[in-house]
Amino acid sequence: MSVKINENYLLLKSSYIFAEINQRVNKFQEENPETEIIRMGIGDVTRPLPKAVIKAFQKAVDEMGHSETFMGYGPEQGYSFLINKIIENDFKSRGIDLSEDEVFISDGAKCDTGNIQEIFGLDNVIAVTDPVYPVYVETNVMAGRTGPMGDEGKYEKLVYLPCTAENDFVPALPSEDVDIIYLCFPNNPTGTTLTKEQLTTWVNYARENKSIILFDAAYESYITEDDIPHSIYEIDGAKEVAIEFRSFSKNAGFTGTRCAYTVVPKEVMAYDLEDNAQAVNPLWNRRQTTKFNGVSYPIQKAAAAVYSEEGQKEIKESIDYYMQNAAIIRESLVEIGLEIYGGVNSPYIWVKTPEGIDSWAFFDLLLTEANVVGTPGVGFGPSGEGYFRITAFNTLENTKKAMERISKLSF
Ligand code: MLT
Repeated sequence: MSVKINENYLLLKSSYIFAEINQRVNKFQEENPETEIIRMGIGDVTRPLPKAVIKAFQKAVDEMGHSETFMGYGPEQGYSFLINKIIENDFKSRGIDLSEDEVFISDGAKCDTGNIQEIFGLDNVIAVTDPVYPVYVETNVMAGRTGPMGDEGKYEKLVYLPCTAENDFVPALPSEDVDIIYLCFPNNPTGTTLTKEQLTTWVNYARENKSIILFDAAYESYITEDDIPHSIYEIDGAKEVAIEFRSFSKNAGFTGTRCAYTVVPKEVMAYDLEDNAQAVNPLWNRRQTTKFNGVSYPIQKAAAAVYSEEGQKEIKESIDYYMQNAAIIRESLVEIGLEIYGGVNSPYIWVKTPEGIDSWAFFDLLLTEANVVGTPGVGFGPSGEGYFRITAFNTLENTKKAMERISKLSF
């Protein structure tokens, strides 16, 4: 007898994409200690938390130091003061009604999009857009839903929906039946969006096929154009078939602070072996209350301050700042003849690599010749080959410097 591991873990690629990039960048930095590297790889923000957020955060930390105001365990689902602000500001303002027990506060959309699959059966057929945020795929690999990876870099049992320049990055409906569909719009990594009409096609598909859409809207605050849905619940009928994930990371700078939320409407159903409908909301509640003890009180107070007048003003300034970077990246890359996408409703710019240079070769070229780090598109899935992602999250100064350096390269 010997202890057995979860064999599914052996099906994973050796490391998570951003860990792999870090390793390569650190190695390069060790070999070239004098070189100033500009990081535009992982989508991590650089602007500090808004002052309104810090003020609320500090006040709540002080409260924790006094017996009259000390808080122990909070509700696993989050405090009402934050949930109600979310409902009021992020949904009611767009004509969407939600009740308090449909919103679950968490420490990140990464965890929630990764954990949600636990409440669904292992036989479900999973569809992902390709390229895709790797967390959706890899958590399903860990759970045993995907089988091994085949030669083309695709897990055998996953349904891949290619999103490339050829289809304007709009995924076509699958030709086979799928049960769970991961959609992320504005998209990570391509920075592209779906219109209301295009998203309606997916909601209708899910309703007709008794499927569920897992909708990651972590980048909704970067939408600048009309007719792009900020929430999937802007689409009629979506509350029956969609779970939505939101985050305070990218809009309010919480990447290191950690706060996010997931909306699970009570109408969303999954089916048992006798084909009886079972509400998903109580199952997610059951999962969270068992495995999660909630986000800390000071952090939820800090997140609530995002919705204050001052907080809203400050987060808008940060988003505008990053979008100014995005415009600079777009203009600079177009000027040197590169084909680019995204960056209009998103902090990500998706670059077609020059003829004959694959994603990792482009990564190496930019790292060694311009000392700029981006993310190779193929790291997000096979349809990402031949593309490269650059984020607008660095400082304005570094963004300009990086573009100057890249502009000097000849491809
Ligand atoms: C990314 O770079 O794709 C994101 O930072 C990943 C994340 O938010 O976890």
